[in-house]
Amino acid sequence: MTTMESLIGLVNRIQRACTVLGDYGGGTGDNAFNSLWEALPTVAVVGGQSSGKSSVLESIVGRDFLPRGSGIVTRRPLVLQLHKTEEGTEEYAEFLHLPKKQFTDFALVRKEIQDETDRITGKSKQISPVPIHLSIFSPNVVNLTLVDLPGLTKVAVEGQPETIVEDIESMVRTYVDKPNCIILAISPANQDIATSDAIKLAKEVDPTGERTFGVLTKLDLMDKGTNALEVLEGRSYRLQHPWVGIVNRSQADINRNADMMLARRKEREYFDTSPDYGHLASKMGSEYLAKLLSKHLESVIRSRIPSILSLINKSIEELERELDKMGRPVAVDAGAQLYTILEMCRAFDKVFKEHLD
Ligand code: GDP
Ligand code: NA
Ligand code: MG
Repeated sequence: MTTMESLIGLVNRIQRACTVLGDYGGGTGDNAFNSLWEALPTVAVVGGQSSGKSSVLESIVGRDFLPRGSGIVTRRPLVLQLHKTEEGTEEYAEFLHLPKKQFTDFALVRKEIQDETDRITGKSKQISPVPIHLSIFSPNVVNLTLVDLPGLTKVAVEGQPETIVEDIESMVRTYVDKPNCIILAISPANQDIATSDAIKLAKEVDPTGERTFGVLTKLDLMDKGTNALEVLEGRSYRLQHPWVGIVNRSQADINRNADMMLARRKEREYFDTSPDYGHLASKMGSEYLAKLLSKHLESVIRSRIPSILSLINKSIEELERELDKMGRPVAVDAGAQLYTILEMCRAFDKVFKEHLD
């Protein structure tokens, strides 16, 4: 593995460990593990309803596994951790709430996300801020943690509480307000960029544009004779990072079960042969976006190594105190788990220190 893959892979594992800790992770309580989780960068996917957020995530993963469609489909945050595995190994998915089950059929992953969403929200169109944690292990992904969020909306529909508009916005804000959050701001090309919910929010929480990646979907759906060069070349709204244009599968493609890999190839072909975007072709598309994000994440993590290290050390101290309270050697499950995490933290400490030189 290259240094870059192993660094992000390490952070992924720490985040997983922190979450597995239950009381320690997952945003409850004030302890070293929550601070550690929050110090680690994540990528939040933000945009209006049906702007293509879930489709972009699927293209990055290269698998078909998210509930998708019209209306508000994503009703709980989905924390998606991608772990790159060795060539030739089989792809599988695992939910934090079902630790003993490995999913190799991704249609069942989609069903489990739906069922798990309903378990908390009921079958209503309610939303919940309680995240679902999903890990995907595959040789075809880059190491990344991404969060899929409910789409920003302007009006409540039949059966939804009036407060849903603000509820969704404040849920999204809890992620994007954090200075360590990288914002993947999704806007559809067939709408005026000036009306983009994603850009409106990004502009507010990240006015200098240093942690926002602008993504323009639905290029294939623009009116004939128009193009998105003003946006893609950064003249409509300037960001520190270059804009990336995307062509996801259409609803018709999805209905006829068009294969993801085929979709990736078609997207590539779209840019390679486009009279408008030919000169940008090598910097467009979902595969390029995944690499760009992974590279950025790596440089962010590298710059944070010293602060991550000091948090890891705090966690180690806290774990040792906790274990002392229980009295060692520990037989009970909770103690054994804490002990495993402690060992893991020590190992991270060592590896991160090596990355400092
Ligand atoms: P979300 O609500 O933001 O998560 O959006 P989805 O990913 O669920 O997409 C909403 C709809 O737009 C689906 O029917 C997608 O097939 C369609 N869609 C998304 N991106 C594109 C694109 O780039 N081109 C086309 N033609 N359709 C797209
Ligand atoms: Na949707
Ligand atoms: Mg969605």
